[in-house]
Amino acid sequence: MECSPKVLIVGAGIGGLFLGILLERAGIEYEIFERAAQIKPLGSVLVSGPTILPVFEQLGLLDEIEKISKPLRCLNIYNSNQEKLGSMETNTKERAGYYSMVFARQNLHFLLLSQIPAHKIHMNKNVTTIHDIDEGVQISCSDNSTYVGDILVGADGAYSGVRQNLYKKLVQEKMLPKCDQDDLSTNYICLVGTTDALDPEKHPYLANEFSHFEAVLANDSSESVTCVTIPDNKICWVYTMQISSTSANETLKNSEWGSEAASSMCDKIRHVKAPFGLTMGNLIDLTPRKLISKVMLEEKLFETWYHERTVLLGDACHKMLPSVGQGAINAMQDATILANCINQIKSLTVPNIAAALKDYRDQRYQFAKTQFETSHKFAFIMGGQSWREALLRKLVLNFMPKSLNQRRQDRTCAYRPQVNFMNQVPVKGIIPVLPQVAPKQYGVETKVM
Ligand SMILES: Cc1cc2nc3c(=O)[nH]c(=O)nc-3n(C[C@H](O)[C@H](O)[C@H](O)COP(=O)(O)OP(=O)(O)OC[C@H]3O[C@@H](n4cnc5c(N)ncnc54)[C@H](O)[C@@H]3O)c2cc1C
Ligand SMILES: *[C@@H]1O[C@H](CO)[C@@H](O)[C@H](O)[C@H]1NC(C)=O
Ligand SMILES: *[C@@H]1O[C@H](CO)[C@@H](O)[C@H](O)[C@H]1NC(C)=O
Ligand SMILES: *[C@@H]1O[C@H](CO)[C@@H](O)[C@H](O)[C@H]1NC(C)=O
Ligand SMILES: *[C@@H]1O[C@H](CO)[C@@H](O)[C@H](O)[C@H]1NC(C)=O
Repeated sequence: MECSPKVLIVGAGIGGLFLGILLERAGIEYEIFERAAQIKPLGSVLVSGPTILPVFEQLGLLDEIEKISKPLRCLNIYNSNQEKLGSMETNTKERAGYYSMVFARQNLHFLLLSQIPAHKIHMNKNVTTIHDIDEGVQISCSDNSTYVGDILVGADGAYSGVRQNLYKKLVQEKMLPKCDQDDLSTNYICLVGTTDALDPEKHPYLANEFSHFEAVLANDSSESVTCVTIPDNKICWVYTMQISSTSANETLKNSEWGSEAASSMCDKIRHVKAPFGLTMGNLIDLTPRKLISKVMLEEKLFETWYHERTVLLGDACHKMLPSVGQGAINAMQDATILANCINQIKSLTVPNIAAALKDYRDQRYQFAKTQFETSHKFAFIMGGQSWREALLRKLVLNFMPKSLNQRRQDRTCAYRPQVNFMNQVPVKGIIPVLPQVAPKQYGVETKVM
């Protein structure tokens, strides 16, 4: 029996590409299928820190990340009168050995893309159905093309078609837990972009080698604007507005990160106060219109991550609010552990594959759950909580003892999974780090006579 699996990855987002890079290094066959015709430089800020940068270091990509990023020291929150409501220490360098780095999503996306041989990514492939067949798992795309592999990875985002296909089948077999049948909950609508290069004379805060990470919370707390400075004199910005679940009707529903629906919203929010004494109008004018995207922010942690040959990663199985920038980190951590588990499949039977996928889920679920809950707790940074709650948060921001914040940060930074088929990088920093999980084997290698 052939020992090295062929992996089909649906979605060339951050999670899918990261998995591709790791499988490339492990020498495992894979192909990536992306619905978009081309990769567009959409999106705003993402964060990476001590919990994922060790893997970039293993890959030799830490310098590349530093080139596109600014390090983070703290984040500040203001009211619409530019009065400071509070701030939070975010410098992880001294205790955890790496800064938390902020960068534009598109810059990371292009960096990851550059690491994958072009012929392994198929653009314009909208995967619509999946079937288990005798030889493996088969996907079909809307252009009627089909592909067969041993393992199918759904890295296709919050509205994952792979998940929907898988869950439909599990419902028929009465194997899907009730909680996984509910929709994602949508509480925010959001507009994001990254400005063109700005004039540092007019915007002196851009000169700082550290990132300015600032948010303005509207007085009634229903909306917020976050700005983050990145290299090349650019600002990543995010506007969020709370919507009551009743108004989140189908007309409003726009699950894709696209620019199509953004325009009318742009016109309505120009007056809203943003950090650095700017308004939303200023930010919109400084950003190419077609690179501004509008999206609903959903959150949901799914329980079912795999079945037989099919597995989910990233937003497809745990869509977090972007309040603390954990979505991309968790997608990459998923990819790290999934690559470790796939690499240890020694014979390609369905039970062995499923055992590897179960182990991936077992290793990741609790950590993803913790980050999911943290992202929810810190959603007040995006506004949209009740005024009373916002007031409470204000007190927390101002009076939360530094030591408490530090303990929380240390706990998060203790988890730093690495790939176990490449040289381990030594632990940096002074805080204790959780041990790496030792590789297990799934099945016994069949000897070729
Ligand atoms: C264009 C874009 C902009 C974003 N901007 C931000 C941002 O500013 N801030 C933030 O916090 N998060 C943003 N996100 C989300 C963030 O990237 C994710 O939370 C995180 O990186 C986890 O990524 P993922 O790989 O799981 O999913 P995603 O990044 O959502 O990637 C999923 C990929 O799968 C593709 N896909 C979906 N369905 C199919 C299908 N049927 N067939 C083939 N391909 C399919 C999608 O086109 C997409 O490229 C953005 C996502 C996208 C796609
Ligand atoms: C992909 O296919 C789905 C389901 O067939 C369809 O609803 C959707 O519009 C298609 N998307 C793209 C971008 O082609
Ligand atoms: C795909 O197949 C269907 C049914 O056989 C056919 O109607 C459709 O035109 C085909 N689409 C493409 C893009 O070839
Ligand atoms: C917001 O609240 C502050 C202080 O409570 C007040 O001074 C200011 O005028 C308010 N701003 C707006 C735009 O309502
Ligand atoms: C749904 O949202 C649209 C757009 O905001 C609005 O015009 C419409 O009245 C809403 N419908 C319902 C039933 O709430």
